[in-house]
Amino acid sequence: ENQIRIDLEPLGLRIAVEAGTALIEAIRQAGVEINAVCNGNGTCGACQVRLIQGALSPLTSIETGLLTPGEQTAGIRLACQARALDDCRVEIPPETLATRQRLQVEGLRLPFREDPLITALDVTPADGNAPLSERLRSALRHMDRAEVDPSTAWISDADGLKFQDGEPVRLALRRGEGLAILPAGAPLIGAAVDMGTTKLAAYLVDLTSGEVLARGGILNPQIAYGEDVINRIAYTLLHPGGLELLQTRLIDAVQGLLADLCSQAAVSPRQILDVVLVGNTAIHHLAAGLPVESLGTAPYLPAVTEPLEIPARQIGLSIAPNANGYFPPNIAGFVGADHVAMLLAAREVTSSSTVLAIDIGTNTEVSLFHAGQHYCCSCASGPAFEGAHIHQGMRAAPGAIERVRLEGDRVWVQTVGNAPAVGICGSGVLDAVAELRRQERIDSRGVFTSSSEKARRAFILVPAGQSGNRADIVLTRKDINEIQLAKGAIRSGIDILLETAGIPADRVDQIIIAGAFGTYLNLESALRIGMFPALPLQRFTQVGNAAGAGACLLLASASARQSAREIASKAHYVELTTYAGYVDHFSRALSL
Ligand code: FES
Repeated sequence: ENQIRIDLEPLGLRIAVEAGTALIEAIRQAGVEINAVCNGNGTCGACQVRLIQGALSPLTSIETGLLTPGEQTAGIRLACQARALDDCRVEIPPETLATRQRLQVEGLRLPFREDPLITALDVTPADGNAPLSERLRSALRHMDRAEVDPSTAWISDADGLKFQDGEPVRLALRRGEGLAILPAGAPLIGAAVDMGTTKLAAYLVDLTSGEVLARGGILNPQIAYGEDVINRIAYTLLHPGGLELLQTRLIDAVQGLLADLCSQAAVSPRQILDVVLVGNTAIHHLAAGLPVESLGTAPYLPAVTEPLEIPARQIGLSIAPNANGYFPPNIAGFVGADHVAMLLAAREVTSSSTVLAIDIGTNTEVSLFHAGQHYCCSCASGPAFEGAHIHQGMRAAPGAIERVRLEGDRVWVQTVGNAPAVGICGSGVLDAVAELRRQERIDSRGVFTSSSEKARRAFILVPAGQSGNRADIVLTRKDINEIQLAKGAIRSGIDILLETAGIPADRVDQIIIAGAFGTYLNLESALRIGMFPALPLQRFTQVGNAAGAGACLLLASASARQSAREIASKAHYVELTTYAGYVDHFSRALSL
């Protein structure tokens, strides 16, 4: 038989099937549920997927009937019609996915700041037949606010907003300048967006009260063009128009997410008066439409490090017509604005003097604050903690094993959504490795200690009879090595920053761990395998999506934007790859 591999994006799930298998069959075998209203009869058109790479059978007449020519050229196929002929990568769009992935969008709860950028001034326009801006101007003169120019403000015609004659109007001001004219009592709304390499999270915020009106997350559609930023940068260099394509896909997704949040909060996207966008340096550049070429090769220089405030329209966002998009400053090619935002939020939870702040992702950024200095670095931890490059790895979608505990010979697992296990996500792999080490089933080099040949290849977490895809869910020797590389990268980064600052690990008063994976990871497992210095558990704080929380702060407060600038300009960036002794640190950090 001729086995082929299918990568299912954005789940990050890889399956092996026989060549010629219908995609819908393969997807089901993988334990993933998609919308197939007509159950594969070729009448509903609900099972749309997109071919990214590889070979599928030719379009059937059912597909040419149900898919528009535009969809056909975009590579859209019906999963019940298309058969996989060779290795391929297929994207399952969110509309087709029956169960949604778990995305972490809770942030820190932050104190609201009293120095908003956008303020409201309620004005009753003077009587008469003059245009609204004239009547406002005369009212403003009477209020001794003649310096405010209402003509720069856009008169809101957003759905559901009605002006009443004789009633005051609400003038929204940005740094004292007219931004929008809204009906009395209309809320001032802003949006904070955290653009991760894998996930996008957004928050709709009432700029007057600081209250989060709605929050939500979706996957970054750029995943289809490369799992990590390096591959996406390569995509833009190899494909004419690639940069524009990646920008459009990202901004369209942000727009869709904001529209979703607006409908939850019963407001119109045209009421969004300000937006803050944070991301790592590459995603930041891709969103702002800046060239990314220099980020792809050493010394990985950003095109821009200063904060940017540009018209939202210019980057393709349709919110309030004269709203701006604010991008916080970047520190370096691999320490971006999202890390700055994270540090801003982390400052809210610590008053300690020596603090390590770690944002775990495909790239892990580490900052060390000590004696008034700020050292930072970026560790190439890779996507193993996202479940990628792991034999049966997947993202934290339903059916992913997220917790593992070994009791004697018994294996106890917990899956996302308590669904039957179909794969294993980052926190599950970490747990499994830590538990195998605790039971001394693997040694400090990650080698299985069993004398049985079979048991030395892989450890069965869930046997085929109990899994959701009728296959054994296993952890292989290679999976263990992937985790060693990832944790080795993080740990050596931490050790090098400590060495640069000239302090031992136990001088660190607090370790703040951010990021989605950082929230779900079991600290004891991470400490057991030496991912972090062995410090008492109470010195660790897991803060969730701190970059998103920092973005909310930047939205609500003018001084936060000043602080972001200071954080970025004072940071002392340590390039690990050229650091003398890096190799020694790294090899030491590989040990479990
Ligand atoms: Fe209905 Fe494919 S399942 S068309």
